[in-house]
Amino acid sequence: FQVKQFHRTGYHFQPPNNWINDPTGPMQFNGIYHLFYQYNPKGAVWGNIVWAHAVSKDMINWESLDPAIYPTKPFDINGCWSGSATILPGKKPVILYTGVDTQNHQVQNYAIPANHSDPYLREWVKPDDNPIAAPGEGMNASAFRDPTTAWKGKDGHWRIVVGSKRKHRGMAVLYRSRDFVHWIKAQHPLHSSAKTGMWECPDFFPVSLHDKTGLDTSLVGANLKHVMKVSLDVTRFEYYTIGTYNPKKDRYVPDNTSEDGWGGLRYDYGNYYASKSFFDDATNRRILMGWSNESDTPQNDVDKGWAGIQTIPRMLWLDSNMKQLVQWPIEELETLRGDKVEISNQQIKKGEYFEVTGITAAQADVDVTFLLPSLDNAEQFDPSWVKNAEDLCGLKGTNVQGGVGPFGLLTLASKYLEEYTPVFFRVFKAAQKHVVLMCSDARSSSLKKSELYTPSFAGFVNVDLADGKLSLRSLIDHSIVESFGAKGKTCITSRVYPTLAVFNDAHLYAFNNGTETVTIESLNAWSMKNAQLK
Ligand code: FRU
Repeated sequence: FQVKQFHRTGYHFQPPNNWINDPTGPMQFNGIYHLFYQYNPKGAVWGNIVWAHAVSKDMINWESLDPAIYPTKPFDINGCWSGSATILPGKKPVILYTGVDTQNHQVQNYAIPANHSDPYLREWVKPDDNPIAAPGEGMNASAFRDPTTAWKGKDGHWRIVVGSKRKHRGMAVLYRSRDFVHWIKAQHPLHSSAKTGMWECPDFFPVSLHDKTGLDTSLVGANLKHVMKVSLDVTRFEYYTIGTYNPKKDRYVPDNTSEDGWGGLRYDYGNYYASKSFFDDATNRRILMGWSNESDTPQNDVDKGWAGIQTIPRMLWLDSNMKQLVQWPIEELETLRGDKVEISNQQIKKGEYFEVTGITAAQADVDVTFLLPSLDNAEQFDPSWVKNAEDLCGLKGTNVQGGVGPFGLLTLASKYLEEYTPVFFRVFKAAQKHVVLMCSDARSSSLKKSELYTPSFAGFVNVDLADGKLSLRSLIDHSIVESFGAKGKTCITSRVYPTLAVFNDAHLYAFNNGTETVTIESLNAWSMKNAQLK
């Protein structure tokens, strides 16, 4: 019995079947990109976790190989959980990962390639001196996981952090090693924060102050800042801060413009979790990979035989305001662009919408720049809204007429709009500035009445509207809409399950429900070809 696959993606990475979660240990080695990911070989629910492995020359088309790491030893017999790759001098990749041992304790292990001359590094060996770190006295053995890529200090010692918590204080436990085999826990964590709970999948890396160039994870100095990202299992969102790493004290301190914890900045304000970045020294980019979970019931996942996809890899850099990061889909994605439509200088008046025809709207890449001729009628912003963009979007969806906006796209829309996933902006007037809200509101995405998780995902966009422009790019792929506002300043991913707006019955519209007319300065939309997934 085969369920009709309306919601499989065409150009996002997903294996033919079964459950996937975190990307782990992404790296580029001798011109080949490696994606490892958490995978259940036995079904479409979480469990039996191994490191599945795929390789690619462009991070878009992938070839799947046999799992690289799977339970075989006492130190990982109950699961091979998330971790990272580090490429040691002499071009020697090492994987650090969390093993769940015979006692169900989380321990940190290492694995090395069996054969460095295999271009695909198919086979990995786990030396017998594992584990390299076990939860010590007073540590929580079920909250000790997800080692980061290592960075090397001027003293020649390698450092990693491992995600953990003490009571409700989330923390990044620091370890040091001279030889990458013997690791000593530092007295102090690199960083911690009260009441944030378990820090899953920490990521810690430098970003350049001056341009988009990615930096090697070990770089320190005056021309950079550091980023600390954590995935919080309590909220199921990721948060990051920008700050300063003091290599002498081995401490990280977030800038005072960077809030630590649940109120902080996010990579993505939607369904996006357990991401991991790496430095690609072939192209000098920092690349971010992230997992987007299903938003339907586990039973539906089992029925369709798969769950979870990897989002399109993103390039990541520090914004020129030095207060936040910017992300953009890697340019390799553009090789999948097919038929194109272009629209320019088209006004959309209050309450109007029009269809963008000529592309496959269920599988498309849309990039639009709106021109806002006037902000005079922007609605007044209530300062209490600043804490919760998602609730504000819930309050002020597409059908609630505003002053400047809501305007944007209706993606994965059925012909008569019984279903649609709107991605849109709304501009408010606050004391001395404007506040821009971006929403990816999945509440109207499906007629299906099961317990879908389709909230009004939203984030604020820290953008200067002096030039009157606001841009939006959305990557639409059957059950995912990945959106990048203001050239990547605010990103939101939604997973949706339309019943009518599928395949050729999916439509794309542009709309405006504000009293101020907005102009589409330019809209470029492409049909997207399937990625090759072998
Ligand atoms: C995050 C996570 C990690 C863990 C892995 C297990 O999604 O819970 O903390 O290592 O997934 O699959």
